Amino acid sequence: MHSCIERKMIIWSLCFLFSLSDLILVLASSAKHLCPPDQRDALWEFKSEFSVQELDSSWWESDLKTERWRNNTDCCSWDGISCDSKTGKVVELDLWGSSLNGPLRSNSSLFRLQHLQSLNLSTNNLPGILPDSIGNLKYLRVLKLRYCNFFGKLPSSLGNLSYLTDLDLSVNQFSGELPDSMGSLNRLSELQLRYNNLDGNFPAVLLNLSELTDIRLSYNKFKGILPSNMSSLTKLESLEINGNLFHGSLPSPLFMIPSLIRLNLEGNSFSGPIEIKNISSPSKLEVLSLGQNNFDAPIQGSMSKLAGLRTLELNYMNTRITLDLSFLSHLKSLDYLDLSGNDLKFSSTLRLPSLGWLFLSSCNIVEFPKFLQTQTSMLLIDISVNKIKDQVPEWFWGLQIPHVNISQNYLSGFDGSADVIQRTGDVVTLDISSNAFRDPFPLLPNSTDYLFASDNLFSGEIPRAICDLVSLDRLVLSNNNFSGSIPPCLSTYLSVLHLRNNSISGVIPGGFMSYMLISLDVGYNRLSGELPKSLVNCTRLQFLNVEENRIRDTFPVWLRSLPILEILVLRSNEFHGPISYPGSSLPKLRIFDISRNNFTGILPSDYFAGWSAMSLPVVYFEGDSQYRFSGVGKPYYRASVSLRNKGSNMELVGSGFTIYKTIDISGNRFQGGIPESIGLLNELIVLNMSNNAFTGRIPPSLSNITSLQSLDLSRNKLSGEIPPELGKLTFLAWMNFSYNRLEGLIPQGTQIQSQSISSFAENPGLCGAPLQKTCGGGEKARNQEQEEDQVLSWTAAAIAYLPGVFCGFILGHILTSYRHEWFMRIFHSFA
Ligand SMILES: *[C@@H]1O[C@H](CO)[C@@H](O)[C@H](O)[C@H]1NC(C)=O
Ligand SMILES: *[C@@H]1O[C@H](CO)[C@@H](O)[C@H](O)[C@H]1NC(C)=O
Ligand SMILES: *[C@@H]1O[C@H](CO)[C@@H](O)[C@H](O)[C@H]1NC(C)=O
Ligand SMILES: *[C@@H]1O[C@H](CO)[C@@H](O)[C@H](O)[C@H]1NC(C)=O
Ligand SMILES: *[C@@H]1O[C@H](CO)[C@@H](O)[C@H](O)[C@H]1NC(C)=O
Ligand SMILES: *[C@@H]1O[C@H](CO)[C@@H](O)[C@H](O)[C@H]1NC(C)=O
Ligand SMILES: *[C@@H]1O[C@H](CO)[C@@H](O)[C@H](O)[C@H]1NC(C)=O
Ligand SMILES: *[C@@H]1O[C@H](CO)[C@@H](O)[C@H](O)[C@H]1NC(C)=O
Ligand SMILES: *[C@@H]1O[C@H](CO)[C@@H](O)[C@H](O)[C@H]1NC(C)=O
Ligand SMILES: *[C@@H]1O[C@H](CO)[C@@H](O)[C@H](O)[C@H]1NC(C)=O
Ligand SMILES: *[C@@H]1O[C@H](CO)[C@@H](O)[C@H](O)[C@H]1NC(C)=O
Ligand SMILES: *[C@@H]1O[C@H](CO)[C@@H](O)[C@H](O)[C@H]1NC(C)=O
Repeated sequence: MHSCIERKMIIWSLCFLFSLSDLILVLASSAKHLCPPDQRDALWEFKSEFSVQELDSSWWESDLKTERWRNNTDCCSWDGISCDSKTGKVVELDLWGSSLNGPLRSNSSLFRLQHLQSLNLSTNNLPGILPDSIGNLKYLRVLKLRYCNFFGKLPSSLGNLSYLTDLDLSVNQFSGELPDSMGSLNRLSELQLRYNNLDGNFPAVLLNLSELTDIRLSYNKFKGILPSNMSSLTKLESLEINGNLFHGSLPSPLFMIPSLIRLNLEGNSFSGPIEIKNISSPSKLEVLSLGQNNFDAPIQGSMSKLAGLRTLELNYMNTRITLDLSFLSHLKSLDYLDLSGNDLKFSSTLRLPSLGWLFLSSCNIVEFPKFLQTQTSMLLIDISVNKIKDQVPEWFWGLQIPHVNISQNYLSGFDGSADVIQRTGDVVTLDISSNAFRDPFPLLPNSTDYLFASDNLFSGEIPRAICDLVSLDRLVLSNNNFSGSIPPCLSTYLSVLHLRNNSISGVIPGGFMSYMLISLDVGYNRLSGELPKSLVNCTRLQFLNVEENRIRDTFPVWLRSLPILEILVLRSNEFHGPISYPGSSLPKLRIFDISRNNFTGILPSDYFAGWSAMSLPVVYFEGDSQYRFSGVGKPYYRASVSLRNKGSNMELVGSGFTIYKTIDISGNRFQGGIPESIGLLNELIVLNMSNNAFTGRIPPSLSNITSLQSLDLSRNKLSGEIPPELGKLTFLAWMNFSYNRLEGLIPQGTQIQSQSISSFAENPGLCGAPLQKTCGGGEKARNQEQEEDQVLSWTAAAIAYLPGVFCGFILGHILTSYRHEWFMRIFHSFA
């Protein structure tokens, strides 16, 4: 806690200093020059080409620079603008993260700012192609368009930017090959194209650009073998091509580039022996990532030639090769070593250099590795997912490693006294989950920030000693057998509290502190009482799951004040009374499960208007939600939810959430019609309204939900026909209309017709295939016009709610754009 507040103070004071210096600069420079009218007008027009929508992210503040521009002041003093000190021409435009929305058109007035040398529009929403006119800005040295939602091919006019030294087009959806014209960017030094859909062979045009120091092509679809003459890039320091489709043998010419410091080939299809032939001596290489390829032979002695190596990743080599680790003793500078996913045998003579970070996850290790005893300055050890039995040895804690992951083994206890970790350890992150640990629960040092102990055999009361851990931030004790009540201290400062699936009783304590809590899961316990009202102040809350308890309360109307709530699960409790509209104020809500309670009342026809997360597509990177639920980029635990889908129960864990969008209000006592506005939720995947008392017709607007896969309307009092339009829903694999008062012909369409007869059972008036009963004809009376009038009124209401979705997109993108990259992994572990 303290360290956290201190960190924030430092950041704030730095920000203050920077803004102060900015101010001084602006004051100093604005005296010198006045912006020429043509430049001012071009800027002013540029501003008007975009709408500005503030993004309400919990951790990332946008800075609406253009909103502070004033037409009657010197444009050189506007935020994000720098002018040439002599001519007054605008030479720099930095509107990074300014919430600009709209395509960048080829006739944009931006292209009249002919003297621009630096342009930064990163982190704005500019969906569209990058216009050819970018080539007009021929004095550009720096061009940064990261994360702007561009798509299509890279314009060949990029080749006209002959002064360019720094080009960043990462995190867009650019496709196709690099234009040949880029071969003329002969001053280019940094090229970043990560996270796009670019393809083709390794771009040969780059080989002519002898000034290149930094090439990052990670996470694209480049393929083929690497060219043999890459050593022509004589200044290259960093090459990152991880996450592509390259194949072939380890390209030894790379190791002959004398300047090379970082080489990341992870996650391709490289094969053959890991053998480093002629290398420049001494090699400067510090970072080498070869993991997740198809290298198939043991490492030759050659690796030891890379004496300067600090980071080495050899995780998940092909067919789990058994690595001979003797070469490691030569790598004296090695600090970060990842050998996860290989079969390892440690000989008793093994000498490792002094390491900071060691990953040995999933290596078939059967006992605590003794060679660790010689390590004196480790920061992180990961020996998760192995076969280590019995007790954690006492000497292990004496190593004083801050970040310890021994999860997913067969460990059952701790050697030494109950306070062994507290006395000798210096633990900050401790993950002991998925073992067979029993009581007593270990005593921990005050340094503990994150404690993950789920899936063990702990029982009794949650130890009150946890309340003394002053810096504890995340606590996961799910899937144990804890009983008693929740210690009130846990509600006051944690950002993650998961106590799922224990035998905990009593009430959920009040006193939740504002802005700390991100994720609360107390599902599958015996909790009673009400939901604590103090949650109203937890504006960072994303995940709230209290399923399968005995909570007796009315619908939490105060949810309105939780702007980034994504998942709300109240399933199987004793909630009662009418439910209010959560939609408009919960733009991120994706999973809404209030099933099996005692809710009553009528849902107004516009009830589902404004549920933007379920009505608009959101693009995420894989694994995204895992990161978001754990806060800013810390993949330390996985959230879970159990849901009903296609008539059976399923448990969603981690990335299962990414695309899941579901509404389950089944098993309540709702009456009246199914709201027409349900048709607005185009992105919904599961809809369950069964076991209520809904009356009237099934709204034809349901046919709008083209992504729907599972629809359950059974056990209501619905009448009229099944709308024929539902036959068009091609993804709708499972549906249930049984126990209603439906009548008429069952619609045609392969999905409906492939349902079992039981899906239509107990509707005396239904006829036609797949039922045996044939229709007599004449039952087709409908009154559609009336319904369409109603549709108009709620669609109008919905249009007002569209903003907000872009933010989810932004957050998702940013948090995951760094995924799998070694340096961020280090950052995560530190943070
Ligand atoms: C900005 O001011 C100039 C001169 O004061 C005027 O000509 C121009 O039309 C103004 N632009 C806008 C968009 O108000
Ligand atoms: C720019 O082009 C778009 C269509 O591409 C057009 O709607 C707009 O009026 C044009 N703007 C100007 C200033 O010419
Ligand atoms: C780029 O340069 C070529 C040749 O100099 C020229 O023909 C073309 O018009 C230029 N394109 C742009 C967009 O400036
Ligand atoms: C410009 O854009 C990059 C992303 O491409 C961003 O990280 C950087 O902070 C921006 N530069 C400035 C000076 O704001
Ligand atoms: C590289 O440069 C050489 C000579 O300067 C030229 O012949 C060749 O076409 C260029 N290659 C590419 C791919 O631009
Ligand atoms: C690299 O080799 C390719 C053919 O393999 C050739 O087309 C290209 O011109 C060479 N580039 C340089 C810079 O040597
Ligand atoms: C690599 O080394 C071998 C023998 O040491 C030598 O024959 C060969 O020419 C070298 N290759 C290069 C490309 O330097
Ligand atoms: C840990 O913190 C508690 C509460 O602040 C304090 O009583 C205790 O002395 C501390 N223990 C250590 C070992 O610093
Ligand atoms: C929410 O926070 C406000 C201001 O800090 C406080 O006055 C109020 O009592 C809190 N509400 C609840 C229900 O705790
Ligand atoms: C639901 O409410 C009714 C009437 O208030 C009550 O009789 C019934 O026991 C409640 N059911 C549950 C599961 O709470
Ligand atoms: C520990 O390792 C497991 C399995 O490799 C992983 O899922 C988990 O996130 C790790 N825990 C921490 C705290 O990094
Ligand atoms: C279907 O969705 C579109 C938006 O995608 C909306 O304009 C239309 O009103 C909806 N129609 C029905 C019947 O819900």
